[in-house]
Amino acid sequence: MMAGSGGSAVAGGPALHIPVLGRDAVGFLKPRNGGVYIDGTFGAGGYTSAILAAADCKVIGIDRDQTAIALGADLVEQAAGRLTLVEDRFSNLEAIARDAGYDAVDGVIFDLGVSSMQLDSAERGFSFRLDGPLDMRMSAEGPSAADVVNAASERDLAGIIYTLGEERHSRAVARAIVNARIIAPIATTHELAQVVATVVRPRAGDIHPATRTFQALRIFVNDELGELLAALQAAERILKPGGRLVVVSFHSLEDRIVKIFLTDRGSARPGSRHAPEVRHHAAIFQVLTKRPLTPDEDEVARNPRARSAKLRAAERTEAAARRGVPPRLLPHLPALSSVLKGR
Ligand SMILES: C[S@@+](CC[C@H](N)C(=O)[O-])C[C@H]1O[C@@H](n2cnc3c(N)ncnc32)[C@H](O)[C@@H]1O
Repeated sequence: MMAGSGGSAVAGGPALHIPVLGRDAVGFLKPRNGGVYIDGTFGAGGYTSAILAAADCKVIGIDRDQTAIALGADLVEQAAGRLTLVEDRFSNLEAIARDAGYDAVDGVIFDLGVSSMQLDSAERGFSFRLDGPLDMRMSAEGPSAADVVNAASERDLAGIIYTLGEERHSRAVARAIVNARIIAPIATTHELAQVVATVVRPRAGDIHPATRTFQALRIFVNDELGELLAALQAAERILKPGGRLVVVSFHSLEDRIVKIFLTDRGSARPGSRHAPEVRHHAAIFQVLTKRPLTPDEDEVARNPRARSAKLRAAERTEAAARRGVPPRLLPHLPALSSVLKGR
């Protein structure tokens, strides 16, 4: 859906998102006059505004959240034909670019995860600090976190919470959820947070006991890791030689995927005289960040949400895009549809 074409209005409320590592991210993207850039995670438009200000270029902004797209309508107007907003998943960025009339683009940028607007809206159900329906969907469609929590088997719940939340008490949390929902379905964020708190004890100076469980459910419900991997491959196909890919991630599971993908695409594969079936592949990206860039203390002090951010960037070479990805890049978990059957 294009901005201004009927997205639901946004009710006042939460403060706008403060862009994390914005200057560095747009610096690595290196916008140039006449270029076309995809901002795959439009959010509050912080990155997009900076790209539009940096050069006389065009931006296609994508977000799966219709409230973000609706909020961007003013920016679309100010940009006077230089910004197109599309409500969609960023894994579809290749088709989105082609629909907008571009077979190739000069840059693709992602600032992963949720925005402050999403996190701070009780009715979106992302935060254990605010009481609201246990939703956690970035878009308005598909099963919610409550659907998963109330239908999944104890085994699947434990697997999701362990793998995507890195929660070592995952089995106990899954059991507590199953015991609680026998009495009544778990419908709100506070209900789930209380259930988790019965088995994960807070330790001094530690994060809230429900943090890991909420993270796991959010990543699972939105298929965030599958989206990321598909989007990296789409960026590989749509970037022009010399085009730039910039990714800001917020937890180790995301950063691992970006790192392994770029390491794989950033290395040439030599052909072999002894195994002629192994073909020579030139590197597809030149990696620009040997180590990920992280925010400095000032940025973290100003914006605590920046504390776990990692930026990686790479420049597309002339080599043809490859198919396939390194094995085990995505964790082994059952599909959302089969989890909902409760096996
Ligand atoms: C951290 S915020 C981006 C903030 C933005 N860079 C800014 O400066 O305002 C992430 C945004 O990406 C969106 N998002 C996350 N995953 C997505 C996906 N797979 N497809 C499209 N949008 C996605 C979220 O809805 C959210 O609005």
